[in-house]
Amino acid sequence: MKELNEGVDSASSFGTHHVLGAAICAYKRLCLELAVQAPTGSNSQNWHFLVITDPDKRSALADIYRKGFEVYANMVGSAGQLAEVAENEERAAQQLRVTESATYLAENMHRVPVMMIPCLPGRVDQMPGLAGASLYGSIIPSAWSFMLAARERDLGTCWTTIHLIFEQEASEVLGIPFEEVTQVALITVAHTLGSDFKPAKRVPMDEVVSWNDWKV
Ligand SMILES: Cc1cc2nc3c(=O)[nH]c(=O)nc-3n(C[C@H](O)[C@H](O)[C@H](O)COP(=O)(O)O)c2cc1C
Repeated sequence: MKELNEGVDSASSFGTHHVLGAAICAYKRLCLELAVQAPTGSNSQNWHFLVITDPDKRSALADIYRKGFEVYANMVGSAGQLAEVAENEERAAQQLRVTESATYLAENMHRVPVMMIPCLPGRVDQMPGLAGASLYGSIIPSAWSFMLAARERDLGTCWTTIHLIFEQEASEVLGIPFEEVTQVALITVAHTLGSDFKPAKRVPMDEVVSWNDWKV
């Protein structure tokens, strides 16, 4: 995430912010073409992707995001809180890096040149399990395809949800009918500094997979 924002930094310091935005938008069309190849339950395809480049709207969303981040930082399950209860020092250090990165993104959210909000019809929070799972499952593959397609074009993305703490306020900024449409995420898009990526450090696969019988 820090790389993502540094990419914005380096571009804006050369006065190329608009060019950057335009380039990202051109790529983004391609990425969105790939995204809508994803599967949906019953082939419903009732997704909608709101792309935000307007500076005033990005700034208003950044304010909402920062307000949400203050709430998130004190929540059980936040990256910082998980650092406190981590099972070993390595994991604690990783969680602290995530917290630092997330804080940097929150502080610099207004500088992210393109934001993308995948949306679903209806209020998912009022739906029973199957409907909710099917609806989320009908948009997350497409949004992830979008992020992978962006990565292949040297664009960095980050899946974020913190602005949803104040989703209704964000809906008002964007003209989304809150009672009829659920926002699923806010995906940030910017160029990265370099492309020297490496595999993420995760809990080892064998610890999270069991075969035939449930073993934890
Ligand atoms: C459902 C979901 C919600 C997330 N929400 C946020 C968020 O609101 N803000 C943020 O900075 N990162 C957010 N992230 C990013 C995660 O913190 C990040 O993927 C995780 O720390 C692992 O980092 P890595 O993907 O760079 O390896 C979210 C990721 C997921 C999958």
